[in-house]
Amino acid sequence: MEKPAQVSVRDLRISYDLGVLTHDMLAQNPFDQFADWFAQAADSEILEPNAMVVSTVGLDSQGNARPASRTVLLKDFSELGFTFYTNLESAKSLDIAVNPNVTLLFPWYELHRQVIISGRAKLVPRDLVEEYFHSRPRQSQLGAWASQQSARLENREVLDAQYAECELRFAEREVIPVPDFWGGWEVVPTRIEFWQGRESRLHDRFVFELHDDLTWFPTRLSP
Ligand SMILES: Cc1cc2nc3c(=O)[nH]c(=O)nc-3n(C[C@H](O)[C@H](O)[C@H](O)COP(=O)(O)O)c2cc1C
Repeated sequence: MEKPAQVSVRDLRISYDLGVLTHDMLAQNPFDQFADWFAQAADSEILEPNAMVVSTVGLDSQGNARPASRTVLLKDFSELGFTFYTNLESAKSLDIAVNPNVTLLFPWYELHRQVIISGRAKLVPRDLVEEYFHSRPRQSQLGAWASQQSARLENREVLDAQYAECELRFAEREVIPVPDFWGGWEVVPTRIEFWQGRESRLHDRFVFELHDDLTWFPTRLSP
């Protein structure tokens, strides 16, 4: 087989010149600002604009803090928080049980933008979980039952067999119940940063922070 052409990683660079972010341009609060940028991301060529990297900090076997990141899909947002759904026995959920402080990062590279939300995760109420679970395709609902997310698997066949078993188990049921081990996390933000790439690496960064649990104040940060 031919050797792949060498890519010079250190020479990969683009200029960030799609826009600017000034104090005057910012919305009154970070939720309106997020909604505005999210609408633009959704309107762009970005694949899965609602994909975000959630970082958690759990404990390793020695009891030391151990960060971990993975992509999930944002499924709801409001002034109350930012919601994603997952397996409640997964590695990420176990991390959150130990330490609810998480960050959510939206990498909107095509727009030369990044949003980072820091906050505390809390469980989504069961009625909302039920509503969302049943809005998903039947195959995804069965997939949730079939996968012990984050657990070791002997091979692919084991997973496929578990799925087939779930198909049989629920064959007669029009409505598939929500597994107890499946649910949602709502991240209640304490800090939201908006990053707009600029030329010469002199990017625009504004962070909204909550003061007195009441008012959001934006501050410009050095790039
Ligand atoms: C684009 C994309 C979207 C994803 N969305 C979700 C999601 O909404 N929920 C989820 O549990 N996993 C999702 N995953 C899979 C996770 O990245 C991850 O593999 C899984 O949740 C297990 O993570 P954990 O072992 O750290 O808990 C997604 C992966 C990708 C690449």
